[in-house]
Amino acid sequence: MILKKAKFLKGILQVPGDKSISHRAIMFGALANGKTEVTNFLQGADCLSTIHCFRQMGIEIERKEDYGRISIKGNGIYGLREPKDALDVGNSGTTMRLLSGILAGQNFPVVLTGDDSIQKRPMGRIMTPLTMMGADIKSQRNNERAPLLINSSQSTSKLHGIHCLSPVASAQIKSCVLLAGLYAEGETSVTEPALSRNHTELMLTQFGAKIHSKGHKVTIYPNPHLIGQKINVPGDISSAAYFIVAGLIVPNSEILIQNVGINPTRDGIIRVCRQMGADIRLENVRTDGGEPVADILVRHSELHGIEIGGDIIPTLIDEIPVIAILACFAKGQTIIKDAAELKVKESNRIDTMVDNLSKMGADIRATDDGMKITGGNPLKGAVIDSKFDHRIAMSFAVASLMAEGETKILDANCVDISYPNFYSHLDQLSK
Ligand code: S3P
Repeated sequence: MILKKAKFLKGILQVPGDKSISHRAIMFGALANGKTEVTNFLQGADCLSTIHCFRQMGIEIERKEDYGRISIKGNGIYGLREPKDALDVGNSGTTMRLLSGILAGQNFPVVLTGDDSIQKRPMGRIMTPLTMMGADIKSQRNNERAPLLINSSQSTSKLHGIHCLSPVASAQIKSCVLLAGLYAEGETSVTEPALSRNHTELMLTQFGAKIHSKGHKVTIYPNPHLIGQKINVPGDISSAAYFIVAGLIVPNSEILIQNVGINPTRDGIIRVCRQMGADIRLENVRTDGGEPVADILVRHSELHGIEIGGDIIPTLIDEIPVIAILACFAKGQTIIKDAAELKVKESNRIDTMVDNLSKMGADIRATDDGMKITGGNPLKGAVIDSKFDHRIAMSFAVASLMAEGETKILDANCVDISYPNFYSHLDQLSK
């Protein structure tokens, strides 16, 4: 994919449905009794992997292309069937980790696998608490990576509640343990060092689970009767982030992004941009299915560098690559710290950002837990190695809008993971 500098961006946009919420709608719909109807479901490759896995376990899921309509016929929390083959999660960490929690409570053995990237990502973080709960979960290559073998045929009756002190603020770990807690004897709780996204807590409560949250601790009670729901998925703030940054850095731009989820566990990008001096307005703020939603109006702004670290990190973890692009256009230094988790995402996002942005002429260097960027260097087009990481490809598409000459993004189609029509949306807004 070859991209060129833009004069400015103008227009109105609707980004696709939220990836985290779309995954959970399928999972919880499958575990509920009765029908769950989902609208604005994200038809990206990751969420389609989740659908595929549940179909393999006998769940009827109907998918209509228009407006992301999905209908799931749930069979209750004990209604999954043993799949004939290994479950393939593709590139999706959310599918792998959340599904592991559910599978720990079934009464059949299953192998969970995925693509090259997922087979490199750490799974010890879920294997440890699930084992503490009594699950029989092994890494087939004995390296705490997928493929995972979850041999629940023997362990079902043995799951028991624990209090998990998660070493990292990760919604995937938290959700995995809470989902296993549905099948455990006694209550299960998770305390995390900072609050990660809380979509599992919000949506499972809506389905009828008993969950109690206080501070950084969340407790779930077992054996709920979950009931099918109607879920309208809000637009994904992680996808909106590319257009927020594009609007801020390209002079004379003005973009209205409609219907975006602004859950406080996800809105760090807005807080950080404002702290850097951004003109961002939230309009039409409302609640839809327990999730706060707004239209986001963004205008080109003069920005200054800041330090980003601490509790805000989990609320913007997926947006850090595009925040690094933003920092190249801010006056002074931006320091991103407490973000070592970036190293274990779809790619090592610290290295990938530093390598590619350096090629474009940016002043950036890696640190142990983040990066330091000094804004002001003009960017020039380069060949960008996306490492098949959707968020890297989209971040550099945004950088290309301000770079002299051509930017070539390798394996640019990896955006299909979370935003299949990203390039056409970018093209529609770029003048
Ligand atoms: C997600 C949680 C985050 C995020 C990922 C989606 C989720 O991962 O990076 O894209 O849906 O729970 P971690 O929980 O590993 O931080």
